[in-house]
Amino acid sequence: MKNFTKKAELQQYLATLRAGGAIVTFVPTMGALHPGHLSLIKQAQQLGNVVVCSIFVNPTQFNDTKDLEIYPRPILEDIKKLEQVNCDILFNPDVDEMYAGNESWHLDIGELEGLLEGKFRPGHYQGVTQVVYKLFTIVKPDIALFGQKDYQQFLVISRMVSLLNLPVKLVMCPIARDADGLALSSRNIHLTPADRQHALILSKTLNSIKQQFSPDHIDQLQQQAVTAINKEPGVTLGYFEIADAETLHPASKSTKKFIALVAATVGKTRLIDNVVLKD
Ligand code: PAF
Repeated sequence: MKNFTKKAELQQYLATLRAGGAIVTFVPTMGALHPGHLSLIKQAQQLGNVVVCSIFVNPTQFNDTKDLEIYPRPILEDIKKLEQVNCDILFNPDVDEMYAGNESWHLDIGELEGLLEGKFRPGHYQGVTQVVYKLFTIVKPDIALFGQKDYQQFLVISRMVSLLNLPVKLVMCPIARDADGLALSSRNIHLTPADRQHALILSKTLNSIKQQFSPDHIDQLQQQAVTAINKEPGVTLGYFEIADAETLHPASKSTKKFIALVAATVGKTRLIDNVVLKD
């Protein structure tokens, strides 16, 4: 695997590959790679012939400095994992390489960035679009892959791509889960064994709502989910929302594609998860 920390060197290398006809696929990450990330790399290998993975803990998407400080950064283990799945290129810049001093610009992609996660983490998606826009400009991927776990992030990035006419195809890959249902997340390493048990209420509740789902009972189901999660010790619910999967507005009977999204703090760790209810 080639490992770049400087954008100019990566760009030069990719230009040569592209001139030879390479289809470049791209998996942006913040590292602390788990099997979910590696499944994105494997999917990327099916869709193109050069896979770039970026590892960059982007400071501008953290609205809590403590959260940024404790974000895991096991770079040597990450490199090993990427080599094991035959990733072609790692881009691992430092903050100065990505940001020229105090950059205060952001993209405004409209109301989507202020709903749900955006309400709880003001500015988060502005940081995400800022860094993903920069990464797309550097890597110029034909295809970029993201996990469904941050479903709202995928919608936000899709909106950015469409508003700015960026020449990249986006692919959303299924949520990777542990055998007991917990959605894989780099943040799971902060969960104590007890937290981890309590965290299962999130996927259990999503599953139960999916099984019972009917557009005629949205309010009751939502209330049922909120009650179940609130009863779980050690879990503080941020939101549980049955939403229109296109707009993330609260769903109504006439919604066509439904999704249930949840965010909660388990112990000290904020987790998100979701499930598509009806397509
Ligand atoms: O999903 C993530 O890991 C990050 O939000 C991303 C897309 C790499 C941007 O920093």
